[in-house]
Amino acid sequence: MLAITLNDKPHKIQVDPDTPLLWVLRDEFGLKGTKYGCGMGVCGICLVHVNGIPVRSCVTSVAEVHNKSVVTIEGLGRDHSVLKAWIEEQVPQCGYCQPAQVMAAVALLDGKGQPSDSDIGTAMSEVLCRCGTYPRIKRAITKIKHASSDVEPKGSSSSINHSAYDSVSNDTREVFAPNPWIRLRRDGITTLIVDRSEMGQGVVTGLAMLIAEEMEVSLDSVRFSFAPADKKYSNSIIGEQLTGGSTSIRSAWETLRLAGAQAREALIAAAAKLWNVKVTDCRAKHGEVIHIPTGQRITYGALVDTAKTLPIPKKVQLKKYDEFELIGRSLPRLEITDMVLGRAVYGLDVSLPNMKAVTVERCPIIGGSLAKFDASKALKVEGVRDVIAISSGVAVIADDIYTALAGRQALEVHWNANSKNVLSSEKIRDQFINASSEKGHLVRDDGDTERDLARARRTFSEVYETPYLAHACMEPMNCTAQVSTRGCDIWVGTQAQTATQYIAAEVTGLDQKRINVHTQFLGGGFGRRGDTDFVKEALEVACVVPVPVQLVWTRQDDICHDLFRPANYVSIKAGLNAEGLPIAWWQQVVGPPLALDGIRIPYDISSVRVECIKQDPGVPTGAWRSVGASQNAFAIECFIDELAYVTGNDPLEYRLKLLSRYPHYQHVIMLAAEKAGWGKPLPSGQVMGLAFYECFNSAVAQIAIISISGNYSIHVHRVICAIDCGIRVNPDEVVAQLEGGIIFGLSAALKGEITISAGRVEQSTFKDYPILTFDETPLIDVAFVPSDRPPGGVGEPGVPPIAPAVANAVFSATGQRLRSLPLRLKEHAKSII
Ligand code: FES
Repeated sequence: MLAITLNDKPHKIQVDPDTPLLWVLRDEFGLKGTKYGCGMGVCGICLVHVNGIPVRSCVTSVAEVHNKSVVTIEGLGRDHSVLKAWIEEQVPQCGYCQPAQVMAAVALLDGKGQPSDSDIGTAMSEVLCRCGTYPRIKRAITKIKHASSDVEPKGSSSSINHSAYDSVSNDTREVFAPNPWIRLRRDGITTLIVDRSEMGQGVVTGLAMLIAEEMEVSLDSVRFSFAPADKKYSNSIIGEQLTGGSTSIRSAWETLRLAGAQAREALIAAAAKLWNVKVTDCRAKHGEVIHIPTGQRITYGALVDTAKTLPIPKKVQLKKYDEFELIGRSLPRLEITDMVLGRAVYGLDVSLPNMKAVTVERCPIIGGSLAKFDASKALKVEGVRDVIAISSGVAVIADDIYTALAGRQALEVHWNANSKNVLSSEKIRDQFINASSEKGHLVRDDGDTERDLARARRTFSEVYETPYLAHACMEPMNCTAQVSTRGCDIWVGTQAQTATQYIAAEVTGLDQKRINVHTQFLGGGFGRRGDTDFVKEALEVACVVPVPVQLVWTRQDDICHDLFRPANYVSIKAGLNAEGLPIAWWQQVVGPPLALDGIRIPYDISSVRVECIKQDPGVPTGAWRSVGASQNAFAIECFIDELAYVTGNDPLEYRLKLLSRYPHYQHVIMLAAEKAGWGKPLPSGQVMGLAFYECFNSAVAQIAIISISGNYSIHVHRVICAIDCGIRVNPDEVVAQLEGGIIFGLSAALKGEITISAGRVEQSTFKDYPILTFDETPLIDVAFVPSDRPPGGVGEPGVPPIAPAVANAVFSATGQRLRSLPLRLKEHAKSII
């Protein structure tokens, strides 16, 4: 029997003393605010306090905390200054790492009331954030530091508790439900049924603002609930229920405003009926209907029963842009409080009666298959209930995940290697190079490229390469499923509800109508959760186990068996005129299909020919934040910079010349240049690099200010980002997405690489697949080109320009052109500035 004081309460527990504290907190005490990220003490997102010291609970056995005091996020007082600062600064994106970030900050501030920048850097670099919330973490800590030097170190008196999450039932009898998105209650609360997935992009609040704006209600009176899988919730741009392609706000821009206007008009009609007055004499404002001639008022809640009896108006008028009261204001996100307090429910936090945990041993060799396995030792592990073969490997089913993992370790499995095609990074590269001599599939053919190349004053050509990359969401893949006589229920953080229904119908043989998808918060998505491989695994097990099962991927599973961002190989040749401007551009892209996407050459060049050669070596691939734009922007924007250099032009002026017919693009670049002070002196050793790219209906220019340190490493000090993304529904959230996109892109530019040797992925943890830490994050400034066009995407467009901007700066600093990612300087690099 072990004794622990947990969040100030004494407890006695009887568990295997070797069990990691993490699983005891989550499974025995139901404290789900402490998250699983890597299980090996690297990522830090399982951080708790033991006797006041920050400790990684995934590598701390419960025996080690015997007779000690453990504090988790749930044990922090609701009036704690760190929680408040986190909410005020709107720190979280997906929120998954945030309880640990808060615990790390609390330990830091408790230990050093006035920590130095270096103290902050050291302490906060202990916890990784894939969404890139570091700039906001810094702001929140700085704010507390300054506040604590004033009067009250633990914040003001009011405490945080409000949750905007509403587990609404599908029963619409008690509410006014004019359309699939709105449920108005008699107490005046509106619940928005959110038909997109919340993975950190703030979609819950963005969509709620569209509804609230037209309904004429305050955002405070809006709650939210995630939609079931249903055709009526299809994304109008994509055609199915899916969150991706930076489409959430774009696809809802009209639809949800119309839904809000429809509710507003229906409520006005209900009031007019109740008062027996003309509809045209009534208007809605702040959750009430007002009869203008008399000033009589009635709340929306009091109109619910009347509104339900009236026909729903079909044609409604939207507000004019200059009438907006919410859209365009930076409002606090509805979902953030729950994330900060550790009570937002992610897929891994789902807990059901009698639920069993599942882990799967998969073939480590790409393209290999299961030959045979011996489960006898695994089945001897106490708590292991079954071991079965499924399509992707061998599934171990146990009472809890810790036991399931122990069972998995005891398995003996033999694989059939894919001996005909043993993959390696070198072989894949050779395959791409060989394919580049073939004729490609034309995706753009303007003018006469062959002719213009032939008549050009000079030609210039280069090759650029990008590697496979993992998504590395902080919440590893997982899915909870139950198949019973009632049908099939799936609890999952998914971007793809329609695809989840399809795969479930295929695996279970059930009609799609009997498949219920319960979408949870996503601890990062970045495209990874748009696939359903992990859902399929859970369902295959659920079909043979009569209780709910929760499939959990380890960090190693998550990185080794990802559906990777594909590598590609890009050749570009330009023909230049006497002024050094390109008159012909030939580009060939070789790689798997997703690497052939997102090719945009915005420059005014009379002949442009783009050819794609599909080459898929067999490495599993999937969409990765910004899809093909991330690879192709690197090639295009490095090449245009090279052209500027070889023709003796300033890279900024060169781009502006080539965009003279596109002033809206010029504005974006000039705004970034102005904010960065392009051409003005920088601190000694620092240089700038520029890149520009348009994707997902938004145009972004980024300038990276870097220096090269003595050990040939690239240090990015500051990134200036300018964007034209149309109307910004919640401007602060747009800034957060750009900050996150830049940090995500920097991880790829400076560190990211999945390599393959002897058919196996060589990386498996955050040690060999590192991401940017707090300490390595540059200052980021975001500026906007004013625009009143409908919203463009913002979740992805921040990613593509950063790698070429840094690469171009590296050239300015060293004279070395780095044409492959990640950017690695050769040892003889010297600063030439
Ligand atoms: Fe940190 Fe998403 S907010 S991982």
